[in-house]
Amino acid sequence: MIPDKAPGDDVLHASGDLKKEAHIPSFEKYKELYIKSVESPGEFWGDVAKDFFWKTKYTGKFLDYNFDVTKGEIFVKCMEGATTNICYNVLDRNVYERKLGDKVAFYWEGNEPGDEKTVTYRELLQQVCKFANVLKSQGVKKGDRVSIYMPMVVELVVAMLACARIGAVHSIVFAGFSAESLCERIMDSQCCILITADGFYRGDKLINLKLIADEALQKCRDKSFTLDKCIMLKHLTKEEALSGSLSPPAKRACPDLQVPWNPEIDLCWHSLIGGASEECEPVWCDSEDPLFILYTSGSTGKPKGVLHTVSGYMLYTAATFKMVFDYHSDDVYWCTADIGWITGHSYITYGPLANGATSVLFEGLPTYPDVSRMWEIVDKYHISKFYTAPTAIRLLMKYGSEPVQKYKRTSLKILGTVGEPINPEAWQWYYNVVGEKKCPVVDTFWQTETGGHVMTPLPAATPMKPGSATFPFFGVVPAILNESGEELEGPSEGYLVFKQPWPGLMRTVYGNHERFETTYFKKFPGYYVTGDGCRRDKDGYYWITGRIDDMLNVSGHLLSTAEVESALVEHEAVAEAAVVGRPHPVKGESLYCFVTLNDGINYNQKLEAELKKQVREKIGAIATPDYIQNAPSLPKTRSGKIMRRVLRKIACNERDLGDVSTLADSSVIEQLFENRCCTAV
Ligand code: PRX
Repeated sequence: MIPDKAPGDDVLHASGDLKKEAHIPSFEKYKELYIKSVESPGEFWGDVAKDFFWKTKYTGKFLDYNFDVTKGEIFVKCMEGATTNICYNVLDRNVYERKLGDKVAFYWEGNEPGDEKTVTYRELLQQVCKFANVLKSQGVKKGDRVSIYMPMVVELVVAMLACARIGAVHSIVFAGFSAESLCERIMDSQCCILITADGFYRGDKLINLKLIADEALQKCRDKSFTLDKCIMLKHLTKEEALSGSLSPPAKRACPDLQVPWNPEIDLCWHSLIGGASEECEPVWCDSEDPLFILYTSGSTGKPKGVLHTVSGYMLYTAATFKMVFDYHSDDVYWCTADIGWITGHSYITYGPLANGATSVLFEGLPTYPDVSRMWEIVDKYHISKFYTAPTAIRLLMKYGSEPVQKYKRTSLKILGTVGEPINPEAWQWYYNVVGEKKCPVVDTFWQTETGGHVMTPLPAATPMKPGSATFPFFGVVPAILNESGEELEGPSEGYLVFKQPWPGLMRTVYGNHERFETTYFKKFPGYYVTGDGCRRDKDGYYWITGRIDDMLNVSGHLLSTAEVESALVEHEAVAEAAVVGRPHPVKGESLYCFVTLNDGINYNQKLEAELKKQVREKIGAIATPDYIQNAPSLPKTRSGKIMRRVLRKIACNERDLGDVSTLADSSVIEQLFENRCCTAV
């Protein structure tokens, strides 16, 4: 399946210097280890596990699973019976065993240039222990769910690791989500406490996070769910932070911020942590105990609580971080993602810390205060490994090479991308302009569900093809299936599936195992179905072609069409809605919404603005519609199913509609073409 030799033509190779020091220095070495990883996973991952501390050893099989719904319940278990603690492994082990206490864990770089601070491994451990004691004093116990709704501050890492230390399950909600989305997630996972902050700036825009958090808690109460403890970090408010805080008010102080305060519910992070002890024995967890829940869009419209467990996730994020970024102890690494998404969980918090790495934690935007900000930060901290999203690359590409070339970038060694397919043009710009042809680009394909990279080049070993995620990571066995579920050989295109688990694969959908089985395992029994399409070329390289379900990828964030549609139809004027993706030069895809209004209602600009606001309030700013079209009727089959394929063509103004013989009323089509929106709302 993987070629014996790396193909020689039309590919790009890493430099000799990189190969000399690399963990995986050649394609042959990759292939040898890959075979070991799939034929003897226990042996391969057992070697990785040797680097970690285990309170007790595992008892059963190293990796046990069933992927076949026809043979019983789907499950994946890794190192069952072993006990450990991931917080201990990423902090105490680094401080005490590896003597990295004085090493910088994070350089925090605020939204405003010059707003910065440094946190060592020892300081991080102290803060985490203190906050773990705070959580315990508030009654949080092993297995309890804790909702975290915070900006990109070091305290977000402190909060998540404090949960992990006491065996509580964190459920982080990206700080761009709305009150409604936060409420839905708090209720679904039945969280007992919420941790938030007063507010933060995104560029020059103030986000009053506490106000949104309060609104979310009110919505929970309205639905008879009570969460009566909310810990708030002062990040922007003017008052002096109390002792023990990592976050002294600096340039970012915002005297105008109105922070509502309810003494019956609200607790101050600083007051609580100020008096907390720095001693906190970790709670030893079973390998398969839950570590966190992270919600991702689901095709029914209701987000799925993806559940990851302790040991498998720890091994997988540690190993992928080390090998995909070819991590060495003198690296300074920067991943620009938000911790509210899986990329931040795996490759800002757990993977880098498990390796004792020094990272940058960035609160701001790539374009604020100007479009050179990224490269300024690269030079400031001498970043060697840099990881970002294709949408950010495309955005910066628009401004040309001059803002990049203002900075030296001589420290850069490896560049990475994640989140969506990268178009070859953006890949080339990243490689040629940002990396000056010296840095391999690792195009990492993975998902919230996979825990870490699953299809990716290894920088010194895999010859690159711009736009291809190349080959599987260790332990991952991909296949391409046709519609009938037959495995395709050689060059082919179809559904991307995986044939066996790796340690980092999700274990269930929180509270709904049936949904887990249905979503990922029912369509093709015996396989994990990614929901992505994929092509394999003559050299065996894999090219991800994008989602083949009702999911859209806007700026690297997955959204389900059903989720946006249900937000639209909740408006009293809307009878029916259908949402499709339309290609967008920066965002990858944009949201094109067709709405059918109730009888007697006229479409106008005011209504359009209301609909847009409605979606922002229901889901968050990331789901704001780009186009809304009044559609008196929608193209449907005779059985009443909306033909989205046809709507996608209309959104793109493509007249070649393919087979429309199942269409109930073809006159609808012309009307829709006539009313197309040409400019974004
Ligand atoms: O469609 C694929 C796309 O993003 C989806 C996963 O989204 P999410 O769970 O939000 O996680 C994003 C960060 C890991 C995938 O199903 N995707 C992610 N990375 C790539 C990609 N598509 C193509 N190439 C990639 N490198």
